[in-house]
Amino acid sequence: MNVRPDFSKHANQAETAPAFLSVWDMHSYYGESYIVQGISFNVHEGEILALLGRNGAGKTTTLRSIARMDNPQVNHGEIWLDHQPLHRMASHQAASAGLGLVPEDRCIIPGLTVEENLQLAQIAPPVGWSIERLYQLFPRLGERRKQEGVTLSGGEQQMLSIARALARDIKVLLLDEPYEGLAPVIVDEIEKTLRHVKEQGMTTILVEQNAVRALQLADRAIILDTGSIVFDGSAAEVLDNAELRAEYLAI
Ligand SMILES: Nc1ncnc2c1ncn2[C@@H]1O[C@H](COP(=O)(O)OP(=O)(O)OP(=O)(O)O)[C@@H](O)[C@H]1O
Ligand SMILES: [Mg+2]
Repeated sequence: MNVRPDFSKHANQAETAPAFLSVWDMHSYYGESYIVQGISFNVHEGEILALLGRNGAGKTTTLRSIARMDNPQVNHGEIWLDHQPLHRMASHQAASAGLGLVPEDRCIIPGLTVEENLQLAQIAPPVGWSIERLYQLFPRLGERRKQEGVTLSGGEQQMLSIARALARDIKVLLLDEPYEGLAPVIVDEIEKTLRHVKEQGMTTILVEQNAVRALQLADRAIILDTGSIVFDGSAAEVLDNAELRAEYLAI
């Protein structure tokens, strides 16, 4: 049986619904370097959680740990997604279980068109996001369906990277700095799309250096500082708390 009680007692807030994704006492290392130092948090279904913190706080490491990438090594802790024990899985199994990691470098496959990039990702038969539906979500991708993916602009590549994750019919979207290097008008476009995807029920963890933009979109926020959680609460609370923002986010 894969059903583990949720770890709601570890969250700071009163629980209103069972957690969809639970991370409990996770510790991660790169070799001897101890990075994620025992973090626990919950994400509810349909929620956008902003994962914030200064450079080097451990945000990417946290996402990679949840996605079960080979590096870092997670040597303690549990990760549950919709009653499935991710901590017992390899990265490809975690991906099949419904995790969609969109890494910072976007990883568009060279030599393939936009459409081929999406086709390669898509499960058959498509359940949620058909390629036509993804083109409705990202009209720019539809217009460029025959163009080689790696020749897209930075913003379009980010859209393709998100669309590719959705094509796999995932349960949780893990976004590592999706706004990085993009013009504000493109950030607006991606933000609008993420709102729409949320309205369709998607659960999202959003890592962003652009903390204000992330907090405007997110329901909740976690702030990491040297691999530990120093805040877990509503996004509005962070926006309202100048001291917290100055201390941990430098904004
Ligand atoms: N492959 C690696 N090998 C060794 N140390 C690493 C590796 N990747 C990251 N680190 C270290 O782990 C710590 C956390 O890095 P991480 O990339 O998770 O931070 P981050 O919060 O995502 O920062 P940023 O905002 O700059 O992206 C840093 O001190 C970093 O130098
Ligand atoms: Mg990072």
